[in-house]
Amino acid sequence: MPRKVSLSLLKLTDFRNYAVAALELDDRHVVLTGDNGAGKTNLMEAVSFLSPGRGLRRAAYADVTRVGATNGFSIFTRIDGMQGDVEIGTGVDTTDETAARRLRINGTTAKTADELTDHLRVLWLTPAMDGLFTGGSSDRRRFLDRLVLSLDPAHGRRASDFERAMRGRNKLLSEGRFDPAWLSGIEEQMASLGIAMALARQEMLGLLSRLIEESGEETPFPSASLKLSGFLDDQFDRAAVDLEDQYSGMLRDGRYRDAAAGRTLDGPHRADLLVRHREKEMEAERCSTGEQKALLVGLVLAHARLVGNLTGHAPILLLDEIAAHLDEGRRAALFDLVDGLGGQAFMTGTDRAMFSALGDRAQFLTVAHGGISL
Ligand SMILES: Nc1ncnc2c1ncn2[C@@H]1O[C@H](COP(=O)(O)OP(=O)(O)OP(=O)(O)O)[C@@H](O)[C@H]1O
Ligand SMILES: [Mg+2]
Repeated sequence: MPRKVSLSLLKLTDFRNYAVAALELDDRHVVLTGDNGAGKTNLMEAVSFLSPGRGLRRAAYADVTRVGATNGFSIFTRIDGMQGDVEIGTGVDTTDETAARRLRINGTTAKTADELTDHLRVLWLTPAMDGLFTGGSSDRRRFLDRLVLSLDPAHGRRASDFERAMRGRNKLLSEGRFDPAWLSGIEEQMASLGIAMALARQEMLGLLSRLIEESGEETPFPSASLKLSGFLDDQFDRAAVDLEDQYSGMLRDGRYRDAAAGRTLDGPHRADLLVRHREKEMEAERCSTGEQKALLVGLVLAHARLVGNLTGHAPILLLDEIAAHLDEGRRAALFDLVDGLGGQAFMTGTDRAMFSALGDRAQFLTVAHGGISL
């Protein structure tokens, strides 16, 4: 069983609808209930800022700062983390829209947000993700890359470096500057970064698929089969150098086509995550709404187990309104499954009774008007 990581203190200042709020917790799960608009998802969002990136809403920081506040927002936490007790503070100092998020770990300014992953991993599932299988491929790529990131923090850097190189190439092509030496240099960089990205995705999906296969019958949620498509399909058993050569060749041959299209048509930025309902042998996008949600829950929980297995520490899970659509039996099974991951999970709903099957495995809090009480 992976070791537990848990939040023992969460303090918010001018964060969304919270002017000041402080929450002391023990290491059990956290159930947050309250009316619509009370601030439940906002609290989850605050916890999601303990991972690199812009949190579970992918918000602009100016929107996160409480309306009417004159400075930015801040979050302070005390965590029993992967390397023992740690204090993490984050926020922005101004309401300036372009401000970057600052981060302090044990009182010292962190160089990059990746340092957070030395202390905890945070994963989430929110209602905003319900359309994942039916929506556009960019959402699925982002989902996929988040799955990779929580195992391999360097993935984010690779992806942003790739994007930057690709923008450089697109710009040269759009300006008609077909300087072969210059273009080849950029394309080789894109090839090495792009293949590294694709391989990291493949590796994570391979590990996740194996874990899903091995734990097949145990869960009340359908299991997913996962596949990448759209970039060098079915070729990832070849050596990385060969793949890089192939991709840089594709880019070289595609210069005129890409110039005409105004963008790069081949690459990891075109990949898609194909998900199938294993038992029904059906593409996820053709499954019912409830089946899609169940698939997604199964997938996120399997990934949480994978993160726990590989890092030795269970991730903190943010499950927003996850129990709402489930009948009593499935809810109880879900709670057992979440509890079995060995970590601390935050769960929200409008009705406390919905979580009664958790019993004393959870602490129950009420959220109302930007305040939190027992
Ligand atoms: N920057 C902000 N300043 C002040 N209030 C904000 C800010 N951003 C969002 N809010 C408000 O916070 C409130 C709570 O939002 P939140 O999404 O957390 O509610 P919730 O409890 O999850 O509700 P639901 O049950 O409907 O999901 C909303 O009324 C929203 O308008
Ligand atoms: Mg909500």
